[in-house]
Amino acid sequence: MAGTPVYVAPAVAAVRELWDRSGARAEPAIKPQLSGFADAIRAAAAAGEDAADVLVRNWLTAPRWRSDQGSPDAELSSAGALSSPQAQLIAARDHGFTSWSDVGGTCDPIFELAVDAVIGGRIEELGRRLDDSPDLVRRRSAYGHRATLLHYTAANGVEIRRQVVPGNAAQIAARLLDAGADPDAALHAYGGTFDTLSMLRSSAHPRDAGVAAELERVLGHSERACDAYGGRPPTSHERQAGRPWDESYHDGPAPWDIEAPQPAVVRLAGAGAFAGAVLDAGCGTGENALHIASLGLEVLGVDVARTAVSMAQEKAAARGLTAAFATADALHLNRLGRTFDTVLDCALFHTFDRDERREYVASLATVTVRGGRLYVLCFSDAGRADTLGPHPVSEEELRAPFAAGSDWSVCAVSAESLQTRFSPHGVPAWLAAMQRI
Ligand SMILES: C[S@@+](CC[C@H](N)C(=O)[O-])C[C@H]1O[C@@H](n2cnc3c(N)ncnc32)[C@H](O)[C@@H]1O
Repeated sequence: MAGTPVYVAPAVAAVRELWDRSGARAEPAIKPQLSGFADAIRAAAAAGEDAADVLVRNWLTAPRWRSDQGSPDAELSSAGALSSPQAQLIAARDHGFTSWSDVGGTCDPIFELAVDAVIGGRIEELGRRLDDSPDLVRRRSAYGHRATLLHYTAANGVEIRRQVVPGNAAQIAARLLDAGADPDAALHAYGGTFDTLSMLRSSAHPRDAGVAAELERVLGHSERACDAYGGRPPTSHERQAGRPWDESYHDGPAPWDIEAPQPAVVRLAGAGAFAGAVLDAGCGTGENALHIASLGLEVLGVDVARTAVSMAQEKAAARGLTAAFATADALHLNRLGRTFDTVLDCALFHTFDRDERREYVASLATVTVRGGRLYVLCFSDAGRADTLGPHPVSEEELRAPFAAGSDWSVCAVSAESLQTRFSPHGVPAWLAAMQRI
């Protein structure tokens, strides 16, 4: 790394050296690449090398992997030797995959070269690469963490060998933001999803390199530039209400927050409706997502209201559940950089106007696997006027954005009821099941 000085912590240097020695770099297909790295980790552990110790502490014995303790993969032999599955699990986790069986895909060579320019502080080379491929700034790593180039500036949550910090990290981040990098893009790490600023705040390396404050100013400025609406245009509901969704969570439970999962969601879950990776769009304070997580399913809840997301995260921690929650706009779910097998919308759909619903349904399609299911629970207009909830929709309005030409087919629509704090007997609702085609 000639030119700009680059801070490399000793532990990172040891892992870099092991990676280079493993020859894994030359292999674009990720499974053989990490297989070679796993072999090198095993040999390094047998030889008592520092690099193996760093990797084992980070990816096998750290408290965050507690829930895996008791599985053969998490137990170390007394001599510190690693089994082959243990070394593979370490190599997988070092690249953001949850398990060895998840490892797959092929590296994008242009993206990988751009990552090296970012972490090497080679701003002119980075500029040339962005000019040649303007979409680079939105591309994602093929590794399990799905990092963007901007995430690499935080030196956290990505592969350890690349957790290095160039002296001009703040300028690199500013260059990426100027080129259109999304500061809210989510990285998948440590069992959750995080934007670059959160990763920076929990990263030791930029602090040790003396650039954390400057980097935070650059990334924080883009955050501050976002107003109370998080930098997105207010939705039709927010325009009508005259305040952002987040404010609904500031003074005690919101009218829809019954502090328990909706009975209709509990029934759906009991009938086995949720399978695979589940997304709860507009999750609020997380009761529905937490109920689904309590059944052993992998769940991500997203909401534009940061306060609600924090409350959901606190509940998950207090209940010992592994559900993940993130601040994200359901109208731009592609920014999550991942897909789901089942999606739940409990009382979000009806808050959008007709145009937003079309946008929302297209956004949902970007993160739902073909054949995946979407369940929508929304207020309906099928009841006495004095019993209806806000923004009631007709069955026709509910079906419209999923009609021919969309990426969805409507499987069923039935009358339901949604519990609220203002109507303990329930508010007329629709329960609709859609399939991604
Ligand atoms: C009526 S509440 C329902 C909350 C939760 N699903 C429940 O059942 O308690 C609607 C939720 O959608 C969220 N929301 C509104 N617009 C959103 C958007 N564009 N993206 C993500 N969440 C949104 C709001 O912040 C609010 O938490």
